[in-house]
Amino acid sequence: MSFIPMKNWYMMRESQPGRAGLASWSCPSNIAIVKYWGKRSPQLPMNPSISLGLEKARTHTQMAYEKREGLSAPVIDFRFEGAPAPAFESRIAAYIHGLLDRLPSLGSCHLSIQSSNSFPHSSGIASSASSMAALALCLLEADAALRGKESFSMREASQLARLGSGSACRSIYPGFVLWGESEAWPQSSNEFALPLTEVHADFAQIRDAILVVEAGQKKVSSSAGHQLMEGHPYAAARKQQAAENAVRLKGILQSGDWPAFIELMEEEALALHAMMLSSRPGYLLFKAGSLAIMELIRHFRKESGLQLGFTLDAGANVHLLYRGEEEGPVTSFIERALLLHCEEGQVIYDQLGQGPQQVKA
Ligand code: DP6
Repeated sequence: MSFIPMKNWYMMRESQPGRAGLASWSCPSNIAIVKYWGKRSPQLPMNPSISLGLEKARTHTQMAYEKREGLSAPVIDFRFEGAPAPAFESRIAAYIHGLLDRLPSLGSCHLSIQSSNSFPHSSGIASSASSMAALALCLLEADAALRGKESFSMREASQLARLGSGSACRSIYPGFVLWGESEAWPQSSNEFALPLTEVHADFAQIRDAILVVEAGQKKVSSSAGHQLMEGHPYAAARKQQAAENAVRLKGILQSGDWPAFIELMEEEALALHAMMLSSRPGYLLFKAGSLAIMELIRHFRKESGLQLGFTLDAGANVHLLYRGEEEGPVTSFIERALLLHCEEGQVIYDQLGQGPQQVKA
């Protein structure tokens, strides 16, 4: 983590109790098993999605806040990995300005924000989920402190994170998390995520090896991809498929059925990319290396009888999910057969995580 020390924040806090402070959160990324793909304003999903919260792929965000006389709008500066980041800064400023109805206490604040990822910047691992979740938590913590409130609700955090990036609302909770209305969960909502508590012990040690086939930025952003679902010829069928898969996954998670889990996860990953291939205009995000890895995983599964399967984000990298108990043979398979298809042999070994952490200064 490369933060420049915020020298003055504690002096600010001491000299202006209740008017200044520092909020600091570390938030994990998540990988969807049932994919969110397609949305309508304001950031409401076309279908329910279910993800797995990671542990190591995290964003840590620190925000010094200070109320200033005479300010009628927040003044925001942002640094990423220790350096000014104007493109991120404008996205973050637009996001915060859009939240002032909910967080009016921030309207007259100077906000100095720094953010850093635990995974390499150029690894092609999407960080919008972890970064927008960490930022939402910092904003709510600051707002609560400025209004003299003890705390805020995680549901509120999920709702706010969603407005920054849809998948971020799931990063507010650890474990398996549902976002979006589903007939199988009466309390489910399009506005915020829900942690899933009924999960069989056989999924407790789940691992995710992220095989970095292509580092760097992908050519078509998720936001552009979501937009292409409007008027997509298969949109209605996809919506139904995802809704059914969310219900199916509920039963699979409860019963600990690994083969069914793998089948559903791979179907969802390939359905997501099928939507991209058949968009107008169509596009293709996986690479020859991604295809080779998917085929090798299926072949190795058949040959070894081990429970392992793949999923993909909106990109070329392949997530290989497997049981913690089978770490030994799976790791040697990765090293022997898969790393040669990864850019510079990069792999990130991650696992089911503990969720966001408040970082004490
Ligand atoms: C393929 O949450 O990144 O990873 O809401 O526009 O920020 P925005 O999109 P984003 O989309 C994620 C899409 C996905 C599937 C998923 O995470 O469910």
